[in-house]
Amino acid sequence: MDHYAVFGNPIGHSRSPFIHLQFAKQTQQTLDYQALEAPLDGFAATTAEFFAGSGKGANVTVPFKEQAFEICVKVSERAQKAGAVNTLIKADNGDIHGDNTDGIGLVRDLLNNNVKLAGSNILLLGAGGAARGVILPLLDQNPAQLVISNRTIEKAEHLVDNFNNKDSNHKNFSATPLNALQKHDFDVIINATSAGLSGHVPDLPSDCLNRDTVCYDMVYLNSITPFNQWAKDQGVTTTIDGLGMLVEQAAESFSLWRGVKPDTSAVLTALRGML
Ligand code: ATR
Repeated sequence: MDHYAVFGNPIGHSRSPFIHLQFAKQTQQTLDYQALEAPLDGFAATTAEFFAGSGKGANVTVPFKEQAFEICVKVSERAQKAGAVNTLIKADNGDIHGDNTDGIGLVRDLLNNNVKLAGSNILLLGAGGAARGVILPLLDQNPAQLVISNRTIEKAEHLVDNFNNKDSNHKNFSATPLNALQKHDFDVIINATSAGLSGHVPDLPSDCLNRDTVCYDMVYLNSITPFNQWAKDQGVTTTIDGLGMLVEQAAESFSLWRGVKPDTSAVLTALRGML
């Protein structure tokens, strides 16, 4: 049997085994998928052992996505731009290839929710790994502008500089400090900060959005997230959490491994019921 896994630390509450085993059942694939905790100082050794055995592919989550990037012989362009890998693939010659499906997962979930991205004004909040991973797939949707903002603005400026080099210059991608956003009126705001984990919300001027702005929080909880609650308090009608992104990034990994695209909607409904 082909073996797959998700590596993280901690990993106990991962939903990935449920999602991938549902995909396998649905597409009649015989495979095993487990959540495996790698020691904080032993990610490379743990994954090397997995792939030396019957491991065919793996997902990687916090805090190992940057280390996963380092162990790959080859990575996709989107993983290269993200500087992080969430999907490891064992090639036929035994080499480990890396990809990053987080950004396409976000984009697909937004499109599934009928959120228009082409021609839209999009604000991305945060400049850590979660934000970095979604920039290229968002730019690929041809927004009118993608503005990135962060509590520490230098980090956002650095990300923009990294994306805009001699090979590619995204004129519609720029950084703006949080306190200078009020003159904007965004169609979509995506929260990629970890502020919600401590119950906080980025310090955003309330006049950078209107009731038709779609607010998307990349995290999910069993109740509304602090950012989405803040958005509703400002009168926003559409808020979306990151559960659909989780399922969509998994579906993209699954199809890279197995060559078949699973149906995500039934799995998302089942998962929502389990929260
Ligand atoms: P991740 O990999 O989840 O992106 P990270 O690399 O630690 O985690 O980045 C966390 C992001 O959340 C950063 O953009 C951080 O802002 P700073 O760069 O200023 O630290 C942001 N963040 C965390 N707590 C926040 C808070 N209370 N308010 C606003 N932004 C916050």
